[in-house]
Formats: sequence, C-alpha cells, structure tokens
Amino acid sequence: MNPELKVETHIMDKKRIESLMIKDQPIVPPDSVIKTWPHLKGENVEFVLTQDKDGLAQGSFILKRGDWSKFFLDTWFDPLYRSYNFQKADTHALKQVSEAIVKLQMKLVPSGPGVVRHLTLPKEGWSEDTVLKELEALATMDHTRWEDGFVSGAVYHGGDELIKLQTVAFGKFTVANPIHPDVFPGVRKMEAEVVAMVLALFNAPPGAAGASTSGGTESILMACLSARNKAYKERGVTEPEMILPETGHTAFRKAGEYFGIKVHLVACPAPNYQVSIPAVSRLINSNTVLLVGSSPNFPHGIIDDISALSKLAVKRKIPLHVDCCLGSFLVPFLEKAGFESTLFDFRLKGVTSISCDTHKYGFAPKGNSTVLYRTAALRAYQYFISPDWSGGVYASPSIAGSRPGALIAGCWASLMSVGETGYIDSCHQIVGAAKKIAEQIATNPALNADLEIMGKPLVSVVAFTSKTLDIYDIADAMSGKGWHLNSLQDPPAIHVAVTLPIVKVWEKLVKDLESVVEGEKEKERVRIVEGKGAKGKSVGDSAALYGVAGSLPNKSVVVELASGFLDTLYKA
Ligand SMILES: Cc1ncc(COP(=O)(O)O)c(C=O)c1O
Repeated sequence: MNPELKVETHIMDKKRIESLMIKDQPIVPPDSVIKTWPHLKGENVEFVLTQDKDGLAQGSFILKRGDWSKFFLDTWFDPLYRSYNFQKADTHALKQVSEAIVKLQMKLVPSGPGVVRHLTLPKEGWSEDTVLKELEALATMDHTRWEDGFVSGAVYHGGDELIKLQTVAFGKFTVANPIHPDVFPGVRKMEAEVVAMVLALFNAPPGAAGASTSGGTESILMACLSARNKAYKERGVTEPEMILPETGHTAFRKAGEYFGIKVHLVACPAPNYQVSIPAVSRLINSNTVLLVGSSPNFPHGIIDDISALSKLAVKRKIPLHVDCCLGSFLVPFLEKAGFESTLFDFRLKGVTSISCDTHKYGFAPKGNSTVLYRTAALRAYQYFISPDWSGGVYASPSIAGSRPGALIAGCWASLMSVGETGYIDSCHQIVGAAKKIAEQIATNPALNADLEIMGKPLVSVVAFTSKTLDIYDIADAMSGKGWHLNSLQDPPAIHVAVTLPIVKVWEKLVKDLESVVEGEKEKERVRIVEGKGAKGKSVGDSAALYGVAGSLPNKSVVVELASGFLDTLYKA
C-alpha cells in the first residue's frame, strides 16, 4: 500500500459496515486476507483485502481498529465463522455465551429432589439446633476451594485465629450502629481510630481526614463525589469530567454514571501498562474535576506513575485520587518487607485523596474500606446533610444511613491484632509468592516460550498473556484443575491475585500451569497432524465470554447476559 495514501478518506465508516452486516452475505468473503498497519499515517487501521478462493483480489476495505476489525482478526481462523455473516456471528456468540450462563446458573442455583427452597417464613420459628444445622449445610455447599488457595483474590484471609477474634468482636457489637454515636461510643472510637491508623500508613499530613466505607467501590464513589462537589462549589463546574486510566477500577465508571461525571479513558500501553501521562495531560480542560492513578490496578497489578500524575495535578491545579484499594496494606509495607517500591501516597504533593481497603490485605472482615483526604474540607464535600427533614436534622458521612458497628469492631480488632510486624510479614509472604510466580513464567522454559508477563508487577497481582496460545483456553483448562483465575480483556490475558491461602500452593499453581500449557500445545499439534489448522474452536466459559462475545464490538450481547447473571443471584 502506498504509505502516502490519505488513509482518513478511505476508512470505511462503521455505520456502513454495520449496514452491510445485516444483509445475508458476508461483506468479506471467506478467503480474504487481513493485514494490520498500526502506524499507517498515524491511524490505527486494519486493511482487509477480499479475494476469491484462487487468491484473486476482489476489493479492499480499510477499517479503523476496533470498528469490527478486531472481530475479523479474532474470529477469522474459526471455520464456523466462514459461513456466517456478521449478524449470524452475533447470534452465534449469544448462543455460546447463553450456554455458559446456563451452566453457571446450574452451578450457582442448586435444584433437584434433595434441595429445599425456603420461599416464605416458616410458620413457627426453627429451633436453634435446626438453624445451626442448616447454616452448616449452607457454609459447606459445593464451592471453588478458596480454603485450599485455589481462588485468585476474593478471599483476603488473615488466618483462622484472626477469624475467631473477628467473630468475637462481631458478637460484642451485633446491634451497634455508628449512626447513633451516643448509644455506641465504643464503635465511634474504633471507627475514628481505624481511619487515623490508615491515614498514618499513607503518610497523611497534619489536617488530613478520612472516612470509613463499606468497600472499595464506596470509597471511590465518595472520592469522585467530593471532587465533583468541590469543582462545582469552588469553580462552578456544571459538566464535570474525570480522567481515568483504562485499567482503573470500573467503580470510577460507576461513579461517572451515578454522579453525572463524564469519564475520559486513557490508554495504558505495553510494555509497562502504566497510564500514558501525555494523554492524560492532553485531556485536561476547564471541566476536569479529578485525575486518577492506581496503586496498583486490578487487571495487571501495575502501579501507575503516581509521581508524574502528581506533578501534573499540581501544575494544573486538579485533585488526584490514588486508588490503593487493592494495594491496601501491601503497598505501604513493600519497602519494609524488602521489596522494590515507588512513591504512591500523600508524600506526593498532588495526591489529594486515596482509597484503601482494610477488607483486602488489611484482613478486616468484608464490608470495610477507607477513603482518605489531604484536608478535612475535601472530606466534607462527600457529606450528606439534611437540615430541614421532618424526621430531624440528618447528617451522614457516606452513602449508607445505618451501618454495621460489628464490622467496624471486626476491622479494628484485625488491625490491632495483626499490627505493623504482622503486616510486614504477610507482605513478605504474599508479594514474595507473586514474585516467584512471575519469575517462573518469565524464566521457566516450560512456560516462557508461550506465556508473557504483562509489565513489571510490584505487588500481589501477576497478569500474563500468550502470543502463541489462546489465553482463555488456558484459563478454562486451569478451571478444569480447580483453579479460579481472573480472565481479563483488551488485551486478552489472565491474572492471579496472590493471597495468603495461595502462598501455600503457588508451586502447585506453576506445575498446573506447565501441564495446561503443554496440554494446549499438544492439542495444537494434533490439530495440525489432522490437517485442521493450529487453532481450534474454543469451548470453555472464559473463551465463550471473552474470546467470542468479547470480540464483538456490539457489547449489547454481553450487557444482556451480564444482566441475566445478576438476575440469577436472586433466584431463590
Ligand atoms: C484496584 C481496585 N480498586 C477498587 C476495587 C473495588 O473494591 P470493592 O470490590 O471492595 O468494592 C477493587 C476490587 O478488587 C480493586 O482491585
């Protein structure tokens, strides 16, 4: 192709592609060739050369990357799609994903003759013995074995002794509700102390303030609300915008939806997968209310360049939130545990708020997190105060009204019981195991020819992808061995978030990964011998959801099915 070609004038309009899709014939015949020119005149485009069976060119299309081109590329070698037009492909994806959801439903919602469903109150209350028996049965229902370390993230366990202590703490404060501090002064004291301890951990300056919340999402929602309210009050911004690394937690997108803040997503490109600072800078305008960095992010476990974001925030006078929900009680202890670290907290002048989940690596019971602010004035922007309600003057610091004092007691007890030495030790174990897994993937010949670590993880999450094998097939095969790893998309990858239970079995994880990679390569060899081509048809759940449905630009299929999944959660 002529490199001087004015690409813009030849790029096929997405609407036009979609109008062609609806017809019975595919717009691209089966024997076509697709090539990618990532840097052609600065445009990220794909070139589709259509040709007949004998390789005779019939025509060509230039498509902007993302406008169906990913779909062409991802599905091209799947023989099923050869006879499909794009509408059929959509339907096919829907069918495959539906099947995966039905399977999940069957797994989640038990049915059959032995299952008793309680849909109305029992006429007479059950005896304590009966309730306890049923609770035992519910607690031991067939599940992915997190207790044996087979689940990535999810269960941030601090050990059996700590769980016993938390249960005692719950028992002492079962009825407590911090909305009535005069009735439960002990809970107020514990909550204030938890926030103070976390502020100290993040090197908060004098005058800094914080609040506890129900989890990382609520902490993030509060930080976004505060930034939006500040910009409105102090600068009159009525059309707020925030700038979010595309790998930033989706709770920020939720905040965008809830609070009417436009979200600009910024690329976090390979090889380091950190947010592009020049791209963030370019997006700042007079409506920008918040910049965001992750320490680390959920998908790849990468810490953004918080120092650079901080400089930008200071220069442009815009608040900067650091999401340390996942990093929680690991990142502040990296250095003391003997690992490489980087600046991420209030020591950086531009950092105005931080979210830190005590219920992740703080090992507090689920339902605990903190949001921290450089000043008390920033915290006040998240408050809700209703001075004229007939029910009385009402003031609450965050989203909930009544809150469980028992959870605060459980959190306080955890922090006091583990202490600094305990957290340094757990950081040592968890990050140490993550580094060993990463090292194996990078250096073990049974893995490094096919798997590739994404960026340079400094904390507990290790994400990897594959240039040679379908990474979703690997995720599905690992599930077959009892593992629950996290599938990622754009780009396709999987990750393991190491927790204390995983520390004990990281070597088994590596062994299983070796055998899964070898198994996938063997399948490929067999296919080649049988003349079926290297790539097979993906069959597993991850492959269905991320490989097939994920490759469709029309995300409504996925939205519909995810909504169906949420319905499943309430099937009694
Ligand atoms: C980086 C990051 N931020 C925010 C959250 C949201 O936390 P939660 O699930 O407690 O709402 C998570 C959860 O995994 C996370 O990894």
